[in-house]
Amino acid sequence: MINTKLSHQLLYYLLNHQQQFISGQQMADDLKVSRTAIWKTITQLQQQGYDIQSIRHKGYRLNHLNDVISAPLLTYMGQQHQFCRQVFYEKELDSTQTQAKKYLADHYSDFAMIADSQTAGYGRFQRPWQSQSGQGIWMSVVKQSQVSLEKLGQFNLFMACAIHRALSQFVDHPEYLKIKWPNDIYYRQQKICGFLSEILIDENKHIKIIYGLGINVLSAPTLAHNKYQPGALQQFCSSPVSRIAVIEQLFIQLAHYYEQFNQQAFTVIKAYWQQHSLVWHQWLNYTVGNQQFKGLAHSMTDEGYLIVKDEQGHYHTLISADIDF
Ligand code: BTN
Repeated sequence: MINTKLSHQLLYYLLNHQQQFISGQQMADDLKVSRTAIWKTITQLQQQGYDIQSIRHKGYRLNHLNDVISAPLLTYMGQQHQFCRQVFYEKELDSTQTQAKKYLADHYSDFAMIADSQTAGYGRFQRPWQSQSGQGIWMSVVKQSQVSLEKLGQFNLFMACAIHRALSQFVDHPEYLKIKWPNDIYYRQQKICGFLSEILIDENKHIKIIYGLGINVLSAPTLAHNKYQPGALQQFCSSPVSRIAVIEQLFIQLAHYYEQFNQQAFTVIKAYWQQHSLVWHQWLNYTVGNQQFKGLAHSMTDEGYLIVKDEQGHYHTLISADIDF
């Protein structure tokens, strides 16, 4: 009989000790179980296909990290970091957003949905989002907390900080990692992550946010007719990046910023957001409705709106828009 809780705990433990061999005794002490339980669980994990190397008198080590992505391990990680109760992981979905919305129709809980690949992933304005197998993180998140309409506009700003913080842990030069208002993360001139929020309002007028993010981790797609080609996180990191490690950082930071979003005003993250934003001193071409405008990014209000100055010197407040440089 497999002790599933221990097997997830053990995988998670090995994941956090990737670089070294750990003795069975050490693991038994740390996880407060017997050595026999460790040995049995490791054998079962090896039989399930996990590449756990064992060397006499040295101990155990988990080798191929990307192979470890699985729903139970992600769920364990999600709970461990108080991020969400359940994580679904599928080899292929049409879109994690579409499936998260479907699931939400009958379930009221915190969850994340991750797919290894998507066949109909989409971004803002329903633009197609390419999501190749094994190359990135394609994830949608639904949290149980209710959101007021007035605060909704700030949500993406909190999430942008969370993703920015998480990705900063991996790149060699975090100073080049920037938030492009309102919904992208760039490394210099290259977009490596895009996110979007969609909302559902139930019969009791409760607002639910379905938050989707796509991160090119190992490689980026080549987009036809695009002035700037997207980049991938790995291009900017000298050490190999594992998707599971990035997912864990995202869980930690998203949990933290979700909490802040619920409890605090935008002013608590304003300084961080301003410091890491790409827009300052740039002329932005922005679209509102069907109309095109041009404005110089000027400042941010305490509510999280962007102020731009047009060529005539008039100021305009943008709540959200599609912008281009
Ligand atoms: C954008 O840049 O326009 C946002 C892209 C968001 C893509 C993610 S991938 C996971 C989730 N599922 C989708 O279909 N879209 C989002």
